[in-house]
Amino acid sequence: MNNKDTLAKSFGENAYHYRISNVFSDKDDLDRMIEIVNPKESDIALDIATGSGYTAIALSNYVKEVIAIDIVENMLNQASILVQERKIKNISLMKMDVHSLKFEDTYFDIATCRFAPHHFYDISKALREIYRVLRQGGKLYILDCSVLNLEEAKSIINHIEKLRDPSHIKSYSLEEWKSMLKDQGFHIEYTRTIKTKYILPEWFDRMNTPEKNRKHIFHILENMPKHLKEFYDFNEEYITTYYVELLAIKQT
Ligand SMILES: C[S@@+](CC[C@H](N)C(=O)[O-])C[C@H]1O[C@@H](n2cnc3c(N)ncnc32)[C@H](O)[C@@H]1O
Repeated sequence: MNNKDTLAKSFGENAYHYRISNVFSDKDDLDRMIEIVNPKESDIALDIATGSGYTAIALSNYVKEVIAIDIVENMLNQASILVQERKIKNISLMKMDVHSLKFEDTYFDIATCRFAPHHFYDISKALREIYRVLRQGGKLYILDCSVLNLEEAKSIINHIEKLRDPSHIKSYSLEEWKSMLKDQGFHIEYTRTIKTKYILPEWFDRMNTPEKNRKHIFHILENMPKHLKEFYDFNEEYITTYYVELLAIKQT
């Protein structure tokens, strides 16, 4: 299966779980995003990989217009349900791949992308496209799952993520993020690593992870090197994980 088919399977079949999940609708996370992005009433925002639309919905209260894109139709259908329920008029939903954005150069003041870059099959191309459609001084906000910059953490954590969801491509460390964004010409204004937990079995259930993969993940965690167990503690109810949060500005 290619990346698009894998995404269509992972998200197409589990789209509803994303609309009802309180991970994506978490008010504190969304309020913090608004504080960091500091949107203006005249801004036009692009929400990339909008999923069930929570980021776009939060932004829509503060900006003139939000265009929210996603590659999976079923996810856009979930977003459409929420947008209609809430009678929001300034969000447009479009089926689109971040690697090939159908917008003019410098069209947007803001781009947001939460919990999605780890799915992108060519992160440099995706970032190049985002950079292109932002105006000079435009802001890119990212929140995504990440890996600590520790020996073996990158391979072990990405292996676990892929066992849980085959559409996972790669979680990047904060250091990798900084370098990728600088390479595209972004100035990095804010970064943060957030220690958090994947709550079980919800994290597995959201992607309908097969039982044998759940067992395999625990096997990997139990056999992790000691220096990683300190940072990645787990039990039957949770697995410790880390998010990165960044604000990058398109340099003038
Ligand atoms: C976890 S969901 C995103 C959650 C959402 N951003 C939020 O804040 O609630 C990940 C989304 O990334 C989308 N996605 C993955 N690869 C994509 C791509 N190449 N272009 C656009 N969307 C993509 C998936 O279809 C899925 O809806």
